[in-house]
Amino acid sequence: MSVSAITISNLSKRFEDIVAVDSLSLEIEWGELFGILGPNGAGKSTTVNILNTLLDPTEGSATVDGHDVVYDAEGVREVIGVCPQEPAFYPHLSGRENIMLMGDLHLVPKDVLLDRIETMVRKMDMEDYIDRRAKTYSGGMIRRASMLMALISDPKVALLDEPTVAMDPMSRRAVWDFIRELKASGKTVILTTHYMEEAQELCDRVAIIDEGRLIELGSPKELMEKHGAKNLEEVFLKLTGKKLREGV
Ligand SMILES: Nc1ncnc2c1ncn2[C@@H]1O[C@H](COP(=O)(O)OP(=O)(O)OP(=O)(O)O)[C@@H](O)[C@H]1O
Ligand SMILES: [Mg+2]
Repeated sequence: MSVSAITISNLSKRFEDIVAVDSLSLEIEWGELFGILGPNGAGKSTTVNILNTLLDPTEGSATVDGHDVVYDAEGVREVIGVCPQEPAFYPHLSGRENIMLMGDLHLVPKDVLLDRIETMVRKMDMEDYIDRRAKTYSGGMIRRASMLMALISDPKVALLDEPTVAMDPMSRRAVWDFIRELKASGKTVILTTHYMEEAQELCDRVAIIDEGRLIELGSPKELMEKHGAKNLEEVFLKLTGKKLREGV
């Protein structure tokens, strides 16, 4: 295992004249539950999509478990599980069949695969709809199924891009419990979110980014103390003058 789970060094990504990520540097430790927070367009998904090898950086570099995201994308993909902001499913297959396909792609043996799905479906309370066609799923159901897809290969590092968006409070709690269990089982989890309460409840450390730049880094408690704030939402407001959920 490399020293850090993830290393991001002077990472920048430009889309024509838009600077989506601007000289970002971060070290994420093994076993950390790390939050990336920021408003719409801050560069969260772009960062996650560079880490999952979907996008190449314009400048700088990043490694996951020591594998460079550009020069050893294959090595990166072997250690990560990805829950994208916009999950993709085969609509005519059931949730279970979609997850099975993902497991097959990762060469997970059949008996292990069936076992893992059973356990995760129970934990996520998905028994009622796991065998329904994915095209009939609500937004919250899709997201939960997408979490299972991300974790079916039992990855060392899970990249979860807004896993609880559009979920009712009960579903959100179920996903929070699931994420806590991931951490307890030793996984490294990167989570992007708009929900400050979520970050405060779950994350060991958070990076607050705005316009592609890192503006604050630390544990929720450290940041609240440093800025004399009663919660992370207030920290963000003090730092940027913006409400995090403006326009969401
Ligand atoms: N493929 C693309 N082509 C052009 N611009 C892009 C592309 N992807 C992202 N951007 C731009 O890069 C910036 C960062 O976008 P990104 O999706 O990373 O933000 P985000 O923090 O994930 O936002 P959200 O909270 O809305 O998901 C935005 O200005 C966005 O318009
Ligand atoms: Mg995003």
